[in-house]
Amino acid sequence: MKEASVLLMLIAFQVVALSATSSGISIALPGCPDKCGNVSIPYPFGIGNGCAAASLNSYFTVTCNSTFQPPRPMIGDPSGLSEIIDISLERAEMRVYGPVSYNCFTSNTTVMDNYTSGFNLVGTPFIPSTTRNRFMVIGCNTMGIIGGYLHSNPDLYVAGCYSYCQGINSTSNGAPCTGKGCCETTITPNLTDFAALLIINQSSVWTFNPCFYAMLAEVGWYSFRQQDLVGHLGFINKRAKRGVPVISDWAIRNGSCPKDGATALMGYACVSSNSYCVGATNGPGYMCNCSEGYEGNPYLPRGCQGELFTNGISLNFRNQDKQLSLQAYFSRFLFLLKKIFSFLNIF
Ligand SMILES: *[C@@H]1O[C@H](CO)[C@@H](O)[C@H](O)[C@H]1NC(C)=O
Ligand SMILES: *[C@@H]1O[C@H](CO)[C@@H](O)[C@H](O)[C@H]1NC(C)=O
Ligand SMILES: *[C@@H]1O[C@H](CO)[C@@H](O)[C@H](O)[C@H]1NC(C)=O
Ligand SMILES: *[C@@H]1O[C@H](CO)[C@@H](O)[C@H](O)[C@H]1NC(C)=O
Ligand SMILES: *[C@@H]1O[C@H](CO)[C@@H](O)[C@H](O)[C@H]1NC(C)=O
Ligand SMILES: *[C@@H]1O[C@H](CO)[C@@H](O)[C@H](O)[C@H]1NC(C)=O
Ligand SMILES: *[C@@H]1O[C@H](CO)[C@@H](O)[C@H](O)[C@H]1NC(C)=O
Ligand SMILES: *[C@@H]1O[C@H](CO)[C@@H](O)[C@H](O)[C@H]1NC(C)=O
Ligand SMILES: *[C@@H]1O[C@H](CO)[C@@H](O)[C@H](O)[C@H]1NC(C)=O
Repeated sequence: MKEASVLLMLIAFQVVALSATSSGISIALPGCPDKCGNVSIPYPFGIGNGCAAASLNSYFTVTCNSTFQPPRPMIGDPSGLSEIIDISLERAEMRVYGPVSYNCFTSNTTVMDNYTSGFNLVGTPFIPSTTRNRFMVIGCNTMGIIGGYLHSNPDLYVAGCYSYCQGINSTSNGAPCTGKGCCETTITPNLTDFAALLIINQSSVWTFNPCFYAMLAEVGWYSFRQQDLVGHLGFINKRAKRGVPVISDWAIRNGSCPKDGATALMGYACVSSNSYCVGATNGPGYMCNCSEGYEGNPYLPRGCQGELFTNGISLNFRNQDKQLSLQAYFSRFLFLLKKIFSFLNIF
């Protein structure tokens, strides 16, 4: 009886010790905040230069804007910040609020409002995921095109889709985006510099469909609603105030996995024991992962821990909330696109 209670105490003590260890494991650098508002910021990302792997890429640095409640994590150049929704180490993905291109008409010939969205990701760790995003267009009698450049390839890349509808009632809520009211297409890997444009013949539709939209968005996020065709910036005001969710793949872009048996080069990011290197599939570089049976942060020394120790550490995406703001910046290929499509006499 006495022996049994000692055993129980031992077990109880061990449980306490375990949970103490687990709460001591951080996904951020020691001494650095691991959250901005509700969003976990795992290393190599970090809030402020000293907390991010800025020597690998300065774009791992996150700014936490606490004028919002809760505070919002932002990434990118000051002139083109994007809001981070969440970051996954395991999938090497980051979800951000992306911008929407639009064109609005107040008569057959008058453009009242227009915006061309784009990204220049050259030099950053980010490339939009091909499997987890679609290029989407909303509107009637409109062609959306996404154009730009692939990582270190001088050829212009252009893809797009067309949507046609004679009236609101020739579309239906919840219908897939196959060309009646909305359309979508997959994008290429390695896309680092791009913009979303609209080529519209509004003449027979502007009375019921005054605004047209084009965007890169997470697969499964958008479902068509007739309401999205209606009103001035109706879609953005009702469903995309802060932007639309986009999934970006990220990787350590300079360097690659060490060849079998070779020692890693200086600056190699997979520093945790029980971690391994994975070559990037979208763009150059590599990612790190914890070995089977381990969880945590492979980018930190002793970051990968046996599963028992990691209770309560969640590196998965939180539920996305489906709203929010936008910015963008891009460039040199707009005139090329306009040249290609000049026969349409639209620009
Ligand atoms: C935070 O966001 C507000 C509103 O967009 C902006 O005015 C302010 O400059 C931002 N602050 C920082 C530190 O980025
Ligand atoms: C987000 O953070 C606020 C306070 O910063 C908290 O009240 C709220 O419950 C959090 N929401 C989620 C979904 O975690
Ligand atoms: C890391 O490992 C997990 C679990 O084995 C796997 O689901 C995930 O795809 C891996 N991540 C990468 C980037 O290879
Ligand atoms: C879009 O708006 C800009 C000003 O913001 C204007 O210069 C341009 O001509 C507009 N584009 C079209 C197609 O009307
Ligand atoms: C579309 O259908 C709705 C409901 O069936 C009807 O109330 C509306 O008048 C129709 N709109 C047009 C433009 O035909
Ligand atoms: C709208 O304008 C275009 C170009 O100016 C013209 O070809 C078309 O006939 C006009 N449509 C209507 C309904 O007035
Ligand atoms: C737009 O469509 C109208 C008919 O709806 C047609 O008359 C006109 O030529 C078209 N404009 C262009 C630039 O294709
Ligand atoms: C990666 O590239 C950045 C910028 O080009 C450079 O400053 C850094 O030293 C490089 N890091 C490694 C590990 O090669
Ligand atoms: C993407 O870039 C990698 C090298 O970084 C290359 O091997 C691959 O073929 C490229 N893919 C496409 C579709 O351009």
